[in-house]
This record gives sequence, C-alpha cells and structure tokens, in this order.
Amino acid sequence: MDKIVVYYSLEGNTRFIAECIGEHFELDFQELKPVKELSKVEPIKHIWGGKQVMMRESPQLKEYDLDLHKYDLIFLGTPVWSFNFSPPIRSFLKENSISGKIIVLFCTHMGMPGKTLRNLEKELAGNNIKGAFDYKNVLKNKEKVKKKLQNDISKLEGKI
Ligand SMILES: Cc1cc2nc3c(=O)[nH]c(=O)nc-3n(C[C@H](O)[C@H](O)[C@H](O)COP(=O)(O)O)c2cc1C
Repeated sequence: MDKIVVYYSLEGNTRFIAECIGEHFELDFQELKPVKELSKVEPIKHIWGGKQVMMRESPQLKEYDLDLHKYDLIFLGTPVWSFNFSPPIRSFLKENSISGKIIVLFCTHMGMPGKTLRNLEKELAGNNIKGAFDYKNVLKNKEKVKKKLQNDISKLEGKI
C-alpha cells in the first residue's frame, strides 16, 4: 500500500509528528508551504492566523508536485489554529478533491484542539478515516509524545 504524509507546520511541532510517522512506515513526505508565510512574532501570529481561520481563507501554496492518485493511504497533519485546522490545509483540500482514500488525521496543539479533527473529518467525507489523533505541546514533550504516537500507531495496526 503506497502511503504519504501531507502536512503543514509553522513552528515544527506538526513536522516532528510527520517525521516520527516516517520512522514507523515507509512513506513519502509532502510539506505544504504558503507563498506568504505567517510571521512567527507574537501577537501578529495569533491575530493574522486567527483572522485567516475566521475568514476561512485559503492562502496560496508554494508549488508542489504531487500525484495523489498514486497513494492508497494519506496521513494528513495540521497545527490547531483557533480551534480549527490551519488555512494551508484548507488550501490543500480545495486544490485536491480527495475521495476513496484511507486517511489518518493528526493535529498538534497547546491544549485546546477544539473541533479540528471533527472539522477535517467532515471535509474528507467520502474517504475512509481510520484514525484521528492529537498531540499536545509536542516539541516540549518529545519523549511523551513519541510514546503516545507509538500507542496510536498500534491502534491502527490491522486497520491499515
Ligand atoms: C494562529 C495560531 C492559533 C492557534 N490556536 C490554537 C488553539 O486554538 N488551540 C491550541 O491548543 N493551540 C493553538 N495554537 C498553538 C498551535 O496549535 C501549536 O503550537 C501547534 O503545535 C503548532 O504547530 P506547528 O509547530 O507545526 O506550527 C495556535 C497557534 C497559532 C500560530
């Protein structure tokens, strides 16, 4: 079964999870990058990021060369922004109409994931969602997070 992990990460937490998934499965990686990346400076980051989520914006992504037809299983990862999935993921879902795939969702956050995974599941209706996992304060708790990931992956075994 051909697998890929597609993700967006502003500050490395979601990228860390994507890389850990890559330690467990043989898969391809696709990191999404907006043409105009959000400033990492507070409070600009939260104000502009929150506004993008509220306005359901889909920022233009840097060009990527990806043929999703090749893959049976897509891991899709996002940071939580304002209790929802991040705008670059909205752009990706707009650009690619994904159906009939096996999907595993993951998000990273600071303790308030909100409806992120549920909203993503809704966006991906028509696919077979096999798992939806969240990880808190990833880069501050790498070892703890790795253990949770290991546990989540064992839940997936036999399903994928
Ligand atoms: C614009 C913005 C909004 C955020 N909103 C939330 C939130 O609603 N709930 C939460 O727990 N964390 C929130 N965070 C924190 C991120 O979800 C968290 O730091 C995440 O792990 C970052 O992932 P990354 O390093 O891959 O970008 C927000 C961060 C940003 C930049």
